Amino acid sequence: MPDFDLSDDCAPGAGLSESWLTEPGFEERPQVDLHTDRAHSARVYDYLLGGKTNFPADREVGDRVLAELPGVRADATAARAVMHRMVRRLAEVHGVRQFLDVGTGIPTAPNLHEVVQAVDPACRVVYVDNDPIVLAHSRALLTSTPEGRTAYAQGDLREPERFLADPAVAATLDLRQPVALTLINIVHFLSDEAVHPPVRKLMDALPDGSFLALSAATADLAPERAEIASRRYAEAGITLHFRSRERVERFFTGLEPDDPGVVPVNRWHPEPAGASGGGEVGVYGGVGRKA
Ligand SMILES: C[S@@+](CC[C@H](N)C(=O)[O-])C[C@H]1O[C@@H](n2cnc3c(N)ncnc32)[C@H](O)[C@@H]1O
Repeated sequence: MPDFDLSDDCAPGAGLSESWLTEPGFEERPQVDLHTDRAHSARVYDYLLGGKTNFPADREVGDRVLAELPGVRADATAARAVMHRMVRRLAEVHGVRQFLDVGTGIPTAPNLHEVVQAVDPACRVVYVDNDPIVLAHSRALLTSTPEGRTAYAQGDLREPERFLADPAVAATLDLRQPVALTLINIVHFLSDEAVHPPVRKLMDALPDGSFLALSAATADLAPERAEIASRRYAEAGITLHFRSRERVERFFTGLEPDDPGVVPVNRWHPEPAGASGGGEVGVYGGVGRKA
């Protein structure tokens, strides 16, 4: 694990969120340069989800998007909720007990392991993200049941060999047994050229019977909303890559599609009471099995 500098931004009173300062164990954290002067996708998303782990630069982007798209908070909630439904189904219906979640985001209850360990406490989960703030909050991801296990590996989706070599992965996952690779709301930060080769490498590293669960932003459903979000994120230096349904389906080439295929996430096994969000969300999701 790399050594990080404790930047001036981390000094109490320098704009850190309250949750950071009051979380137990703050003083014991690895030293981290959070680059809080720049907006970051994990923290903008946290802000849109109503979280507290964000900074003025993140809130500025979020507020600009919210000013034009007041519904974006509900969209973010629905975009996260599909992760809960996908991993619950993977555990309940497909019997998956191991999960590799890349692009985890800032912990937001329930986290992936809490959902799958409610199905079987023996489930094992490795979380991976490239944002040091997720590392700094990773304690909340390490609250496994005694029967299961969770681990956090700092890493980048574009460099799968590096995080697969992290001892935490070998100590947590048995790569001879099926694993679900979950890429939820991450691939729209990467171009096709950047993201397809590592996703292929990861699926190649997993045995038959493994799954890919993925969601990705699209401009198919609400092009004007996608355009506004794209412009506001771009102003903060974050490029969003929107994909058509066909381009999202490309991630599942060679995999057996799970019902109902690639669909808008609010239509992916929605909760009966509509808890998964009523409106159309500009994100596609799907699950596929490596046969
Ligand atoms: C929008 S958040 C999604 C979080 C979570 N998966 C969810 O859906 O609630 C995207 C996350 O992907 C992470 N991320 C973006 N690009 C990444 C990359 N190349 N490698 C690893 N993580 C990345 C960000 O740091 C952020 O935490």
